[in-house]
Amino acid sequence: MALKVFLLIITLTTCQCMRLKQGDFMGCYQDLPISNVNKINGQNTPNDCSEICSKLFYRYALLYKTDRCSCTNILGEQKSVILCERYCSEKPDCILTDDLKNVYFTGFTVLGPPNNVTISNVTDTNLHIEWNPPDYIQDLVKYKIQAEVKFTYANKVLDVRSWEFSNETLNTELNSLQPGTVYNITVRGISSSQEGIAAFQTVEMKIGEPSNMPSQPSILGRDGMTLRIQFDPVENDNGPVSSYLIVVVDKISPQEIVTDYLKGVTQAHHDGLSYYITAELQNERVKETTEFLIGDGRNYGKYYNAPLDIKNSYSVLLGVTSRKNGQEKILYSEQNDNMHNMIVYVGGEAEPTGLTIALSVGIAVVSLLLVAGIVLFLVLRQRINSRFRHRLQDAQELTMQGPMIDIENTGYVSEEHDEPVNHYKNLKGQVWMIPHNSLNVDSTLVLGEGRYGHVHKGILEKDNALVPVSVYNIADKRLTRDQKHNMLKDMDALIKAGKHEHVLEFIGSCENIDTVSIVFENSSLTLKEFLIGSRIPSTDKFTTMSEEQAINFGIGVADGMNHLHARRVLHKQICARHIGVVNGNIPKITGFGLTAFYKDGKSPNCVRWTAKEVLKDQNYTHKSDIWSFAVLLWEICTLGATPYTKISNSEIIERVTRGLLLDRPIYMDESLYQILLNCWQMNLDERPTFRDLSNALANLRDDQFSSYLSFKLYNGFKYEPLQISQELNNSVF
Ligand SMILES: *[C@@H]1O[C@H](CO)[C@@H](O)[C@H](O)[C@H]1NC(C)=O
Ligand SMILES: *[C@@H]1O[C@H](CO)[C@@H](O)[C@H](O)[C@H]1NC(C)=O
Ligand SMILES: *[C@@H]1O[C@H](CO)[C@@H](O)[C@H](O)[C@H]1NC(C)=O
Ligand SMILES: *[C@@H]1O[C@H](CO)[C@@H](O)[C@H](O)[C@H]1NC(C)=O
Repeated sequence: MALKVFLLIITLTTCQCMRLKQGDFMGCYQDLPISNVNKINGQNTPNDCSEICSKLFYRYALLYKTDRCSCTNILGEQKSVILCERYCSEKPDCILTDDLKNVYFTGFTVLGPPNNVTISNVTDTNLHIEWNPPDYIQDLVKYKIQAEVKFTYANKVLDVRSWEFSNETLNTELNSLQPGTVYNITVRGISSSQEGIAAFQTVEMKIGEPSNMPSQPSILGRDGMTLRIQFDPVENDNGPVSSYLIVVVDKISPQEIVTDYLKGVTQAHHDGLSYYITAELQNERVKETTEFLIGDGRNYGKYYNAPLDIKNSYSVLLGVTSRKNGQEKILYSEQNDNMHNMIVYVGGEAEPTGLTIALSVGIAVVSLLLVAGIVLFLVLRQRINSRFRHRLQDAQELTMQGPMIDIENTGYVSEEHDEPVNHYKNLKGQVWMIPHNSLNVDSTLVLGEGRYGHVHKGILEKDNALVPVSVYNIADKRLTRDQKHNMLKDMDALIKAGKHEHVLEFIGSCENIDTVSIVFENSSLTLKEFLIGSRIPSTDKFTTMSEEQAINFGIGVADGMNHLHARRVLHKQICARHIGVVNGNIPKITGFGLTAFYKDGKSPNCVRWTAKEVLKDQNYTHKSDIWSFAVLLWEICTLGATPYTKISNSEIIERVTRGLLLDRPIYMDESLYQILLNCWQMNLDERPTFRDLSNALANLRDDQFSSYLSFKLYNGFKYEPLQISQELNNSVF
């Protein structure tokens, strides 16, 4: 025994390289920090105690000579290297040596699991996670978090996601997770030699808006009061598919469809809406391509499938719903007038019942051809008109229209019924009506000017706090009918846009006798100003902005635009002047709907950001926003330069439509430029989506081996030119 102890003394004091084994005695210690000691009953040999402590991820097992076992990761003061006797624990007057313990090595050497892992604020794609360090933190180099999919609705394979953080980090936000998916989130410490033990939590993400838009139902035939349609099931990566909604749209008195108002036929008629939900079919009924007869007079779900008006023509939309844990997300098929819903089925030509479907299909095909002819004629006429306008009015014409939502039916304020109030009320029903005494507007200070009035600084009392806001005062009573029509449309776009971290927040509205005040979150700095302001060279860089900040602006805008597109809001005027910057680095999309207002009374002239196909044919689609976004990325990377400064305003449309693209600045890596080029593909289908862009940019940013941008000063560096006159109109609109 004495020999063994002697040998141990030598190993402990002289030779670090000799490995301790489980159960080896390490010495006699005093004042072991009690909070880290875990007491275990009934284990009283060094080997048993060491083993159990090692299973609990402790380094040290503690024993009185023959007492209970406990474990710790932190040693107290070493008293001696020989076994300590329990002299006094039974004697009340003997205090000094009362807490002496024999310490044995448990054999556990990796980092233990981090403590108190807590997940909060779970949304469809993001969550917040915090943790405390593991008990034993010596040699803790960094933390690694992984998210492994336990269950998902996604049809694609989702890899394990992995993040690493410095050893100082104790909380973070995890982004871009898959909606509706259950993850096992593990957090572990990493030492210089190995990975530690993981602490884990499972978490279920909220469901997201369905990932695929339903395609337009095809119409098989009309038979007086009924209409036979056929549609395909929808695949959804972001949650379950719960049911399908069939929406009937009356084509005789067209109204802009606000999907939030959709309801059953009776209520819709009562509210003067020309569109309604006629049936809800549970997912189980729609496992494959499904036929449905609209107008059969039966109930489907809680909807009455009312017979159609024999004199009216209709189009049909399909909605897909996803419901789980009290959340509901609905996505409707594209509402812009495509060939399908331009087919005019006038009931007067009703076929006798019992006609075969084949015949109906035949008739549909013939009408389709006829309609195609008409459409072609209309499109050509439209093109000729727009070409003509171009020549007459130069570039200004494009921006005069302002950004709009992609549903461009007129009749929003119904001309026939002369009842604009209804729609207005409906719109207003969806926003927070701010009480007068909560809003304090400084009307002496004009922050900006918009199409319908001035924007002032204000202070809003919200949740018992005072927040600075921007207040857009609209002299409602003084607007002309057309202006009012446009204003309602812009307001609708705003409501549709909803809330997103990277979209300027519409807080609510406040009404006076003759004005409506629209209240926005405060953002007085534009990205353009930020970029130009960053053009300050230091000893080694030509800007105060970091490369990561630049790419993060891009990612933020892409995320915000992805949100707007999911809500079917086209922006049409993406450029740095339409991005606000709050808290120094958070981009906020503005410049659409009622968020279009400008400091200097001059609105941006976005021709240089506009997609080729728009310049050519006024053909706005989601993909034209993608084009503009790439120009914005170029603008960010060149610190607010004007695109194509060498080309004058009178030539720019022609040059871009003939194929002119922006060059790669030499400090932009090919990998980043390739992303821009993808956005400028001629074939719209080959352009990425905003989600693709956000992922691609984040991958570049997170790739340690990529230098997507370098703002290092080099010999002969010159800022890309800025030509303010090429970017502004002379007045607000
Ligand atoms: C875990 O959280 C509790 C309550 O916040 C705290 O008292 C405790 O010290 C934490 N544990 C560790 C090991 O950090
Ligand atoms: C969670 O969200 C709430 C409300 O949005 C916010 O006040 C809180 O700070 C968030 N918590 C964390 C840890 O991010
Ligand atoms: C974090 O790591 C660094 C270097 O690896 C080290 O110097 C520091 O002490 C560590 N900090 C903590 C809290 O472990
Ligand atoms: C989560 O991952 C950890 C570490 O891989 C594993 O030990 C644990 O069993 C997993 N939990 C679930 C619920 O899958």
